[in-house]
Order: sequence, then C-alpha cells, then structure tokens
Amino acid sequence: MDGDGDGNGLRLRERLAADGQAHLLHFWDGLKEAERDELLADLDACHFPEIMRFFRQAVQGSEALQEQQKVDEHMEPVPKEVQGSITRDREQLPTWEAEGLLQISQSKVAVLLLAGGQGTRLGVTFPKGMYNVGLLSQKTLFQIQAERILKLQQLASEQFGHKCSIPWYIMTSGRTMDSTMEFFVKYNYFGLQKENIIFFQQGMLPAMTFDGKAILEGKSKISMAPDGNGGLYRALGNQKIVEDMESRGIAYVHVYCVDNILVKVADPVFIGFCVKQQADCGAKVVEKTHPTEAVGVVCKVNGLYKVVEYSEITLVTAQKRNADGRLTFNAGNICNHFFTLQFLKDVVKIHEPKLQHHVARKKIPYVNDQGQQIKPDKPNGIKMEKFVFDIFQFSKKFVTFEVLREDEFSPLKNADSQDGKDTPTTARHALMSLHHRWVLNAGGHFVDENGTRIPAIPSSATGMSEAVTAVVNDNLKELTDLPIKCEISALVSYAGEGLDKYVANRDFRTPLIIDENGAQELIKNGL
Ligand code: UD1
Repeated sequence: MDGDGDGNGLRLRERLAADGQAHLLHFWDGLKEAERDELLADLDACHFPEIMRFFRQAVQGSEALQEQQKVDEHMEPVPKEVQGSITRDREQLPTWEAEGLLQISQSKVAVLLLAGGQGTRLGVTFPKGMYNVGLLSQKTLFQIQAERILKLQQLASEQFGHKCSIPWYIMTSGRTMDSTMEFFVKYNYFGLQKENIIFFQQGMLPAMTFDGKAILEGKSKISMAPDGNGGLYRALGNQKIVEDMESRGIAYVHVYCVDNILVKVADPVFIGFCVKQQADCGAKVVEKTHPTEAVGVVCKVNGLYKVVEYSEITLVTAQKRNADGRLTFNAGNICNHFFTLQFLKDVVKIHEPKLQHHVARKKIPYVNDQGQQIKPDKPNGIKMEKFVFDIFQFSKKFVTFEVLREDEFSPLKNADSQDGKDTPTTARHALMSLHHRWVLNAGGHFVDENGTRIPAIPSSATGMSEAVTAVVNDNLKELTDLPIKCEISALVSYAGEGLDKYVANRDFRTPLIIDENGAQELIKNGL
C-alpha cells in the first residue's frame, strides 16, 4: 500500500494512525486482493473519529458506574401514580382494550420488532425469530408474532366495520438482515401484506481492546457487532423510518423484543392504557420475584426514569424488600415499550446524539501479531451498546403497566440444559400452559386415556386456604414439568377470546391443536 505511489492508501494509513488504529493494516502486505477488498469494506464502515469519541464517553460512563454505591443510593421505585396493573385495575381493562382497538382500527398503531441481536447465549447462527421451540405446530417465533398481528387486524376491523392495518417494522443488523428477509419471503410474509412489513438495519461498531484499539477477528476482518437495541433511534433517523411512519398516519408504536414467545404484539390493553394516561412513553413490566433474576428493573435514578440492568444493580439493592415482603425494585422490564410517534421524533432529532454507549466486557476472539486465531478465556475487550430504554429519561409522561408473567413473559435466551432457565423447553411449556388455561376458562375439559377428566387447575392460587394452595401449587408444578399438550393458533384467538364456541362443555384428549381450521380439528378430536 505505502511506498507504491498509492496516495489513497497513504492517506488511509495516516488517517488510521491519527485515530490510533494503524494496527488494522498489520497484515496488509500479505493479503490477497479479495482479502484487501474485505478489509477495505470494513474500514469503510468505520468512522474512527466518531467511534473513538463513543469509546471515550462510554469508558468514562462505565467508570462512573463502577461507583455502584452512588447509583444505588439514588434509585427509587416507580411511584404508584404512574403504575397501571392488569390485576389491580381489573375494572378499567375493558375501557383500555376498547381504546386500543379503536386506535388499531384507525391504523394508527405500528409494531416494531427489535431483531438485530446475535442470539449468542442461545448459540444459534441464524436470527432468533426463526427459532422453532418444538410446538405442536412447529411454528417459529416470527410466525407466531405475524399471526397475532393478523388476528388483531381482523378483530379491530370486525369491531369497527372497516379495514385496518398494523405495519410491522423489523430492525435487523448486518448479521441478521439477509437471512431474516429471505425467511419472510420463503414463508410468503406469513399472510401479511408485504408492503406493511418494513425491514431496516441498525448500525454496527467494532469491538475494542480496553485501550481503544479496534480488534481484528481475522487478518482482513474487523470484529464488528450490532450497536445495541438502542441503535434503534439512530437507525429510525438515518433510514427515514420515522418519515415512513408519519406518511402512514401512525401515532403510537409498540416496540418489543423478538424472544418472548408470549408477547402480545400491539396489545390493545397496553396501548389503550398508555393513550388514556396521555403517556408519551410506557413500559410493560412483570413483578420481579427473585433478586438475581436476569431482568432489568424500571425505576427512577436521580429523579429520571431508567432501567437498571441486571448486570448493573448491586446484590444488596436487588435484595431490598418492602414491609410486605416484596422486592423494593420489582418492576421487571420485559422489553415491551410504548412510544408516541411525536416522542420518537423528538428522540431522533434532539436526544439520541446525547445518549452514551454502555460498555460490555467480553471475550472477543482475535488474531495475534503472528496471525494466529486466539479464543481468550477472560474478557479482553469491550462491545459498545446503546439500550432501547435509555430514552425513558426524556419522557414527559412516563407510565408502567404490570402484567402477569404466566400470561405474557417467557423469553428464549438459553439453549436447553438441565434445570435451564429461559430455554426452548420453558418457552414451549409456557405457551402450552397458557393455552391450556384458555381452554379451561372457556369451559372445555381435558380427559386422560381412560376418559377421566384431568382436574382443572386455576391460574392463580390467591384467596384459597393454605391446604388448597399447597395442592394447587403441586399441580402447578406438575403443569410446569409436564404441561397438557395444547396449542391454539393466534389466527383463532389473540388472548383467549372467542373460544367458547369451539370448546365449551367439551372433553378433549391431548394433544389438542386448534388452528384456523379449528372446528374440523375439534370434530376429529372432541369426544
Ligand atoms: C433485555 C432487556 C432487559 C430485560 C430483558 C427481558 C435491553 C437492553 N435489556 O435484556 O432489561 O429485562 O430483555 O427479556 O433491552 N437486539 C437488537 N440489537 C442489538 C442487541 C439486541 O435488536 O444490538 C434485540 C434482540 O434481538 C432482542 C432484544 O433486543 O430482541 C433484547 O436483546 P437481548 O440481548 O436479548 O437483551 P437481554 O440482555 O435479554
């Protein structure tokens, strides 16, 4: 490159040196042409003056965080007056649901899926949304979500007598874009209209050593990773997604993460609640029950709404309990957020550039100066990520909405293992248990191989004597270990509604699938 009269090459080397990145050309002289092109493409994607600014700010921010004690001292739980709850506000639910459905029927609601993650913990090389957890139907997470959107469009259209659509914005990353799009094409967009599915791509950043050198994962390849799910806001701006939403007349956006098999996409109750509260920003939460559970907690820090991640809270603070025995910081974040479009516009224009990246210390594979591939056994560098909830602090009216874990939260994070948490097995069981309860609530029954009715198990043991509670808990345990094999297509029911006509006063053997041809299936299955 240098010494060969290549002025551009010289300039590149100088530019990299000015930002402390000259090492990225360490192998240049020995690279073949195709490898040089590969490296040049990576270098082209990296604007190092900006990346170094991100790096310095992120490291400073993380050093401040090391003063954990101080952050903890300033944490306060979410005040009661901004909390809604699916259990405590039962009588309001129909009003909120009606409001949400009204907004959906007017095509003012969009959903936005965060699907740029790499699924590292799950250990798959393809996007998590393509994962099949082994349901009776073998449906993937993408298909389940698509069918919930289809059903909601149908429910809102029927109720208000005109057609409506819920555009689905899907954020991918350099690592997941092509395979995600190919998957949707292969499955014909799962019956949704192609023009209502909008794919866009978040940014990528190089992994850095602790002293600010971008890491080479191969001689001609920089180690790049998506810039966190908070990379959303920059992508919304630079890919003109906000303009697209505006041109479609969208007013409200439900943002959610890909891995929760129970996610109520565009949940009308949550949307209606936020709209009625005139909130610009909202977060669905579940009660955090164990201090060490891997969920962030929604709270206030120095008077501003934040999520303090499970990796950022000290054990002492996580273990704090109120007089009633509940955790003080119990608003468990399930990565389900509501934003008004106006708020998103302000974020993109005004606030996003002020957000700092968080620092994640990782073991990052690299090539050493001799060109050998090394897999480090302790963290050797950092990844820089923004988080989707970093913008809560800019909200003018923030609310939380607490829902039941067994109805709405079962994330897929890890591969199956004995006693594993958040695995394909736990996700599959959670969905089947929920659908089992839907059938029971709609008046259906299950029978065993002898035709004897399997005892019905209520979803909550509240209000029962201790002895009964013990039996119910035992049954619940059994249910978790060995759920009744039952699956109801979202094309039949979004949240358990409308099942009476199929199941009331009928006995079923397992496995039971109620799909869009539900009636016929039931005739085959019903006894
Ligand atoms: C996330 C939440 C955590 C919450 C938990 C509940 C964040 C930062 N943390 O944690 O507070 O308790 O879910 O399950 O939201 N993603 C991208 N781009 C990226 C990285 C991730 O789109 O660069 C997407 C993933 O595809 C996924 C979602 O963001 O859909 C959440 O990412 P993940 O890494 O699974 O977050 P958690 O650490 O589990």
